[in-house]
Amino acid sequence: MTIRGTLRAGLVQIRVLDLEKAVIHYTERLGLDEVCRTSDGRVLLKAYDEFDHHSIVLRQAHEAGMDLIGLKVENDAFLTELEQKTKEFGLKYESIPANSDQPGFGRRLAVSLPTGHRLDLYAEVAIAEDHPGVKNPDIWQKEPHGMGVLNFDHALLYGPNTKLAAQYLTEVVGMSKVEVVKGPDGESDLATWLTCNNKAHDIALLEHEQPGKLHHIGFKLESWTEIGHAADLISIHDIALDAGPMRHGVTRGQTIYFFDPSGNRNEVYAGGYAHFPDMPLRVWDFDHVGKGVFYYTRALNERFLNVVT
Ligand SMILES: [Fe+2]
Repeated sequence: MTIRGTLRAGLVQIRVLDLEKAVIHYTERLGLDEVCRTSDGRVLLKAYDEFDHHSIVLRQAHEAGMDLIGLKVENDAFLTELEQKTKEFGLKYESIPANSDQPGFGRRLAVSLPTGHRLDLYAEVAIAEDHPGVKNPDIWQKEPHGMGVLNFDHALLYGPNTKLAAQYLTEVVGMSKVEVVKGPDGESDLATWLTCNNKAHDIALLEHEQPGKLHHIGFKLESWTEIGHAADLISIHDIALDAGPMRHGVTRGQTIYFFDPSGNRNEVYAGGYAHFPDMPLRVWDFDHVGKGVFYYTRALNERFLNVVT
């Protein structure tokens, strides 16, 4: 195995307007499990196929959106290397001590991305009590429920200076640029998909004038069949549907989008190609973006493009 350096997106803290409604949404509907609650009232959740202590944090707030996204790196020595390189690159960061606001997590570097988002880099996380089996393992320890999401997969972030952010994420953090959508000028990148590993993406960025905005957090499902099951649950429980079931041209993922009760967009996603670092960049022209996003209908949807939290 040669995935080294930065491994994957593994943590996201989301702001919600009504904590208990959010807990029901993320546990009973998406299928995450509650790990514990913090003394300041945040709820820590994980998906059944994840080994780390927790991956999703819900925080009650007056405004929906994302507080931070985290990337897990190989070890503490690499984290130290990233700290030095972040300093040299010129981005501001803060050192967060181990076991502070994220129980079970080792020390983190909280980097201020030029898009206005906070990126936490960390190496060590306690193993979850409720982790997947490792000895003669069954396919699950606890039966999947709700949509049965396997893991937190990625996020699409909206903000300014995505070119500089993508430069930091590739040159310093070591991510690969997998796909881009060109702006109307044919030169600039309107949207960029980046991966740490051989998934199609861990973080995607879209150029937007307001900083620090969240377009969606994405969770992995096993197959197109589970996307259909998720669509059934969305209808049964009157969850606000955004788009799908459908396929993206970009990443080739099969997908459905919907909103949590606070208006944060969620995606459950299956398929998509495997990326390898020797693959060339896939490029979409601006006049093909309809097909890139909505592969079957080939028409852009204003709500999908412009509603962010
Ligand atoms: Fe996505």
